[in-house]
Amino acid sequence: MDQTALQWLLFVISLLCCTTNQVRLTVSPNRSQLFEDESVSLSCEEDDSSAGWTLRRNTTTDTRSQCGDGWGRTAGSSCNINYINPLDSGVYWCESREGSTSSIINITVSGGSVILQSPVLPVMEGHDVTLHCQTKSPPSKLPADFYKDGSLIRTEPTGHMTIHHVTKSDEGLYKCHISSHGESPPSWISVTENKTTAPPTSATPPPTSIPPELVFRLVLHLVVFCPYFISTLLMVSLYRHRPTDNESTSASTQDFDDIVAVTTEYHF
Ligand SMILES: *[C@@H]1O[C@H](CO)[C@@H](O)[C@H](O)[C@H]1NC(C)=O
Ligand SMILES: *[C@@H]1O[C@H](CO)[C@@H](O)[C@H](O)[C@H]1NC(C)=O
Ligand SMILES: *[C@@H]1O[C@H](CO)[C@@H](O)[C@H](O)[C@H]1NC(C)=O
Ligand SMILES: *[C@@H]1O[C@H](CO)[C@@H](O)[C@H](O)[C@H]1NC(C)=O
Repeated sequence: MDQTALQWLLFVISLLCCTTNQVRLTVSPNRSQLFEDESVSLSCEEDDSSAGWTLRRNTTTDTRSQCGDGWGRTAGSSCNINYINPLDSGVYWCESREGSTSSIINITVSGGSVILQSPVLPVMEGHDVTLHCQTKSPPSKLPADFYKDGSLIRTEPTGHMTIHHVTKSDEGLYKCHISSHGESPPSWISVTENKTTAPPTSATPPPTSIPPELVFRLVLHLVVFCPYFISTLLMVSLYRHRPTDNESTSASTQDFDDIVAVTTEYHF
């Protein structure tokens, strides 16, 4: 089997495998900055509930700690945090038993009275993104200054700012300020490049090495399918050898052919 065929096979296997193994991390309220004492619900939304996803986080005090393990309360596939605290700021993600992960979400909890409402997930290149500068109470449309990487970029009279057709250069650390209320914490906005428009010059990319993740999935599949495969072979051969009388050479050849046929069938 040449390398291209092997890569194609691995690709198909990973596709079959991964489509049933996707997980999305959602957060409600749907924003990356929260006020202190808000309650938050984080969910690992999955297609295959047997994968056993757990919600984990890294904060300044925790590393890879699981929901319920000193923070949050598990309720079904959700994790609820009542009265969130600035110390709960950090990165949150869903992780399966086998170690695959969802996208990672940055959550920042403000002890002050202003937050920046920015997208939780990376923004796709070419799309528009709107940032809202929000005060704690009452939520109002006050003029706001928006900063990127520490420099003032815009002052908006209505407190929200839209960036049209974002590009990779819009990526950065954003914050906002409302006079007489204060400043929001900073949030990182990341931009995902369109994969389809990435290589317009090379129509035939050079053969790449097989990603270790695919090899892992292939091994996983072999481990799962091998016992099944072997037991099928055993059953077939036992069944064939049950009538022990008048064994001719042609009959054995026939048996052999059948087993080869079975082998071929299970060899993907
Ligand atoms: C969480 O922290 C651990 C240990 O510092 C690190 O290896 C891991 O990459 C972190 N995970 C994320 C998603 O930042
Ligand atoms: C989280 O925020 C940090 C900076 O505050 C940034 O470096 C990192 O890329 C962000 N991660 C995600 C997944 O947005
Ligand atoms: C959360 O907001 C993003 C846009 O920032 C949107 O694409 C997504 O559908 C929202 N998710 C939910 C669960 O409302
Ligand atoms: C990227 O893809 C989106 C659709 O997913 C499209 O709306 C946008 O125009 C594309 N951007 C570029 C720069 O090609």
